[in-house]
Amino acid sequence: MTRTPVVLGVESSCDETGFGLVSEGTLLGQGLASSASQHAEFGGVVPEIAARAHLDAAVPTLQIALKDAGVELGDITHVAATSGPGLATAVHVGLAAAKSVAWALDVPLYGVHHLAGHAAADTLEHGPLPERSIVLIVSGGHTSILAIGDLVRDPIEHLGDTLDDAAGEAFDKVARLLGLGYPGGPVISRAAVDGDPKAFAFPRAMMRSGDPAYTFSFSGLKTAVARTVETIERAGDPVPVADIAASFEQAVVDVLVAKSVKAVKARGLDTLVIVGGVAANARLRAVAAERCEREGIELRIPPPRLCTDNGAMIAAVGDLLVRSGVEASGLGIAADPSAVLHGAQLPLPR
Ligand code: KG4
Ligand code: ZN
Repeated sequence: MTRTPVVLGVESSCDETGFGLVSEGTLLGQGLASSASQHAEFGGVVPEIAARAHLDAAVPTLQIALKDAGVELGDITHVAATSGPGLATAVHVGLAAAKSVAWALDVPLYGVHHLAGHAAADTLEHGPLPERSIVLIVSGGHTSILAIGDLVRDPIEHLGDTLDDAAGEAFDKVARLLGLGYPGGPVISRAAVDGDPKAFAFPRAMMRSGDPAYTFSFSGLKTAVARTVETIERAGDPVPVADIAASFEQAVVDVLVAKSVKAVKARGLDTLVIVGGVAANARLRAVAAERCEREGIELRIPPPRLCTDNGAMIAAVGDLLVRSGVEASGLGIAADPSAVLHGAQLPLPR
């Protein structure tokens, strides 16, 4: 008798240590630890601190995930781990933990592309993805518009990426220059609630006719915010943090939504999926919902807790790979810190 698959997912690419358990498309439970507070004074993630924190958190967080899911270690039938992209030292810790579990239990190991994990997170909430969709990935390290079919079988087509900063990185940098701390997304969001999004006309880059339709650039926006703050400070006036935060947030959101809706329409599709840490942003969720409603586009965004890094999303990819009958990656896989997204599995099957 074959056992029902129970896939353990392991995530450690940045500052979150995540373990998740997924069985046939259903999230059984998860455990999550974060070292974000340890990086706050540096305004960004310090790789060595993140790696040490993963090492400390690995076993207790796995225990929390097992308890949450109501399963025993021995019930795990497959292991999937982020093997890239991410901070090399951080990826190594999770991948080593995943290899240990897979080897000890004598179960197959799958290397997973972290960004495919973000896309798969949505399936845990909204079920299987449609035959074809446009996916906007907005995280701390990446901002891309992708055209995807079957997430684990078909090649992933990049329609456009960012030329410089990722959307989340822009939030983190602007939060730092406003003195709001790290990570920037949640703090900017909170500060923006009382602000006027029209107070400052910050630039919307790459939106002119003739600009590449699906390419982003956020470094000019960050510089414009910095100049505005400098000018106000030089005049000896108080910095209107709420207005700046709201206007910055609106500028990012306008560009993200305009370009992804354009991609859905250009491809003649009817589904837009928005994933990654920045997808937790309330203004992005609201503007995208309003725009998609108007255009007759089905919008899928995972709940905020599944937008930011977690182990469940990696388990979700593992679960899809297992159910597709794809061959496991094996215990020999290496970390690939700068892996480009061509497919969900790493290394790509030959
Ligand atoms: O996907 P993620 O957890 O990690 C990476 O793969 O990078 O994304 C982290 C990024 C950070 O830059 C963080 O500032 C941003 O997501 N973020 C947000 C929000 N929550 C997290 N950005 C805007 N609004 C939020 N509510
Ligand atoms: Zn991520």
